[in-house]
Amino acid sequence: MSVAKKEYKRVTVKSLVDMKKNGEKISMLTAYDYTMAKIVDGAGTDVILVGDSASNVMAGHETTLPITLDQMIYHASSVVRAIHRALVVVDLPFGSYQSDPKEALRSAIRIMKESGGHAVKMEGGKEVKDSIKRILHAGIPVMGHLGLTPQSIYKFGTYTVRAKEEQEAVQLKEDALMLEKAGCFAIVLEKIPAKLAQEVAESVSIPVIGIGAGAGVDGQVLVTHDMIGMTHEFNPRFLRRYMNLYEDMTNAMKQYGEDVKSGDFPSDKEQY
Ligand code: KIV
Repeated sequence: MSVAKKEYKRVTVKSLVDMKKNGEKISMLTAYDYTMAKIVDGAGTDVILVGDSASNVMAGHETTLPITLDQMIYHASSVVRAIHRALVVVDLPFGSYQSDPKEALRSAIRIMKESGGHAVKMEGGKEVKDSIKRILHAGIPVMGHLGLTPQSIYKFGTYTVRAKEEQEAVQLKEDALMLEKAGCFAIVLEKIPAKLAQEVAESVSIPVIGIGAGAGVDGQVLVTHDMIGMTHEFNPRFLRRYMNLYEDMTNAMKQYGEDVKSGDFPSDKEQY
């Protein structure tokens, strides 16, 4: 069912909770640079995630683990300069919050001060509870992230669907309640069964944003480069491609090459 959209001049963490209350779904996409963020924001996307997926998408690493706090701050500050409306959430990268709450707070403060982002996202449940609380106490909004948490890929061994087994599903539900109680403003659920995701979304009052978590949640997030088809080797079932930019860009660049070689470019009109 589509719901009349209330106009939000600027999306805040409070707007997201209102959207859930009003039954309006939340749209979230990634951006890592100024030019892309301008398009994502201009399209009316509610939340821009400066994801640590920048490690894969921008830097070509196999996992999200290598990206550093300095690199995340660089990406996030480029995004923040472009936006007028969206809420900008920045991932705390692997190694910047796992060792202790003080270090987690220092990392979150650096992101807020040096990038101008509006909130941070952290992967994990009870194991990072103290760090989440410490950051929240400093007035920094935190988005949780449960299910497939790519920073733990070497613990999982694969990128397959999480929480199919009862024990993991129970733990995930407990973690979601803990995140809400601690004061997180939203939770990302990645790659878990749709039924479980819906149960979680119905059990908490904060918005639950899914990626590969079905339609029964409060919003959806995709990696922009995947949904516009700039990447083409990653084809999970949950991904809907709205464009095939890989092919379109390749064709455009081939044409440019041919035009340069043939002398067709530049024409008389394209010179001074
Ligand atoms: O880093 C990222 O892009 C993410 C999304 C997949 C949720 O965490």
